[in-house]
Amino acid sequence: MENPFQKISEPLSRVDGRMKVTGAAKYSAEFILPDMTYAVLVSSTVTKGRITSIDSKAASNAPGVLAVVSHQNAIRPPGYPADNEHPTEPSTVGQPHRVFYNDKVVFNGQPVAMVIADTFERARYAASLIKIQYAKEEHTTDFEKNLDKAVLPASAKKNPKSPLADYDRGQVDGYKLAPVKLELEYDHPAEMHNPMELQAITAHWEAEDRLTIYDKVQGTQPTQQNFAKEWKLPPENVKVIAQFVGGAFGNGLHNWPHETAAIMGAKIVKKPVKLMLTREQMFFMVGYRPRTTQKIGIGANRDGKLVGITHSSIGMTSSYEQFTESVLQQTRMMYNAPNVSTRYRILPLDVSTPIWMRGPGEATGAFGLESAIDEIAYELNIDPLQFRVINHTDQDPEKNQPWSTKYLKECFDMGAKAIGWDKRQLKAGAVSEGPWKVGYGMAVGTFGANRRGAKVRGKLFTNGSLLLQSAVTDIGPGTGTAMTQIASDAIGLPATKITFQLGNSEFPEAGNQGGSSTVNSVGPAVLNVCTALKQQLLGLASTSIPDFKGATMEQVSFKDSTISLNGKNASITIADLMKKSGSGDLDVFQEAKVGEEGKNYSKYSFSVHFAKVHVHTATGEVRVKHVVTCADAGTIISAKTAANQMIGGVTGGIGMALQEDAVMDHRFGRYITKDLADYHVPVHADVPGIDVLFVNKPDFIVDPLGTKGIGEIAIIGVAPAIANAIFNATGKRIRQLPITLDKLI
Ligand code: MOS
Repeated sequence: MENPFQKISEPLSRVDGRMKVTGAAKYSAEFILPDMTYAVLVSSTVTKGRITSIDSKAASNAPGVLAVVSHQNAIRPPGYPADNEHPTEPSTVGQPHRVFYNDKVVFNGQPVAMVIADTFERARYAASLIKIQYAKEEHTTDFEKNLDKAVLPASAKKNPKSPLADYDRGQVDGYKLAPVKLELEYDHPAEMHNPMELQAITAHWEAEDRLTIYDKVQGTQPTQQNFAKEWKLPPENVKVIAQFVGGAFGNGLHNWPHETAAIMGAKIVKKPVKLMLTREQMFFMVGYRPRTTQKIGIGANRDGKLVGITHSSIGMTSSYEQFTESVLQQTRMMYNAPNVSTRYRILPLDVSTPIWMRGPGEATGAFGLESAIDEIAYELNIDPLQFRVINHTDQDPEKNQPWSTKYLKECFDMGAKAIGWDKRQLKAGAVSEGPWKVGYGMAVGTFGANRRGAKVRGKLFTNGSLLLQSAVTDIGPGTGTAMTQIASDAIGLPATKITFQLGNSEFPEAGNQGGSSTVNSVGPAVLNVCTALKQQLLGLASTSIPDFKGATMEQVSFKDSTISLNGKNASITIADLMKKSGSGDLDVFQEAKVGEEGKNYSKYSFSVHFAKVHVHTATGEVRVKHVVTCADAGTIISAKTAANQMIGGVTGGIGMALQEDAVMDHRFGRYITKDLADYHVPVHADVPGIDVLFVNKPDFIVDPLGTKGIGEIAIIGVAPAIANAIFNATGKRIRQLPITLDKLI
């Protein structure tokens, strides 16, 4: 059978684009319910200690105030873990912070009180009147000074086969056997989640035991499960709406204290409560990419063959929850080194819990690994692209099994050509243009092509339009557009006749939108819905239209809203067929399960990023002039949204390389960069033309559409590509992100 997905379809513009630009799209803080009230959180000004008094009299008496909530009068969600299950007493694997639970303060900015009023302004004013006294305790927030307190994560201790556990292939520290070896250290600061839309929730108890929340999350059903557990309700009594999400990059993969606070508040005032974080609160209440340090020992023979890599890393976490991410995965599987050791540790500090941030773990690890690869290639006087070709692997060296697909070499060729790699000088600092040094760099990225089961409902109406529903969210990549494209290609209806509804926990089962796994999880269920509908339509045709009698699926085509007999002059529109047969609307419900077919394969997406930079000889200013990013992400369903994903990821990578830097003042245990004036992210002037290329070859081992993920590989490897280009331009190797101009002069 011809695979309709091998071609890149005619680019479809975002199906919800008009709603977004006209303001018709409703985000979590934009739902107006009758009797709406507004909550504002008061944050702790100390980092560690106990609350000794809360003076809330003035706040309670302020106009419009309905409630002042703190640990002194809070409702306890019945599902809060008990003290002896909770890490702070004593320390275990970790549980989310229990808001307003007791007098303890465990991080700076922790919500310690909440005011609910009839308007937002009144709530904010009253919140400013609350006076809190603390008994301060000494806090530990300095990562660098406490590296000796890093520990193996509890989950790795429990499961030695966990990817977080210590790993050795060949000889431990085998890199030391090599004639050419380097020992290097890389570092990056915490990076904060700053999507356009602030984290917000509107909570509404529709009955004593029935909760509806409009919440900025990446999974409606995982959130439903969490709050059903917290409030000891049957999951079906908790409804979660996240119809539009104004950007989320991992911060919506966890439920945070402000969500519980709003739900609790709505129970107390018996009215809907809306709570939106301030931009400042985004810096400590919804996670961040943890500060991480890495050590790499790397050794190679003079011919460029890697002998070994030892890669260790320590990432920060909170005192009450163990956040982990897979920093070292790329080191274990990307190169053909016979000796590889990885060691992952986390360091609990008196800070809020970090969370995944796009390309979680891998983007961090790739900065170390792909910089180190570049460094040793220079040491050997080998072109770094050539070095990667020399150490390319045709099977997974970690699991000793074949790749499902791997077209990384194709990416190398396409990308090198597009950036003009042949113009690059091997010698660092060799090329100038006026006052600017010119350099080229590259690095690779990879991320597991993970897939989960999902369900989709499809309703085909007698007017020939199709409605699809899934609980999945769209945090920005254009999920509705991609799913519409899949359905349109599969059933032959124009995109304008298809509506994909998402972001509602009452729709059919789907997990989080995270880990680059939506298209390959939900897409196959859409495909199954279309297949089931086509079978029903064929059945209708064969009973109600003589020409189609006995026709099989192979003998018919679905195109332009019409079913036709191949090679014959017999066709009927889907709408006419449904009317003629008197079928009524067709309603199907399909599941796409993950089968056994992928079991013996290693499944990864791959990317390579090439960067050309200018570095000013006098000021050290870095200008990224051109980026070419090339992805092996399987079948490309929607050329436009896929390219958007890559461009967004590269932009994030430019921020990681050159700008993003959360600076903490350890005297206070508080971040001093807490707005977008001090915490820099790329603006248009920082982002050059980005060329996106796709191999676009299907991987049917991952899923029947042939897709692999895109979201994470878009950023993984971008920061080292830029760092490597800066070295090529200047001969200066900066191993601490961000690479600001002070480090280059
Ligand atoms: Mo992503 S870090 O899986 O939202």
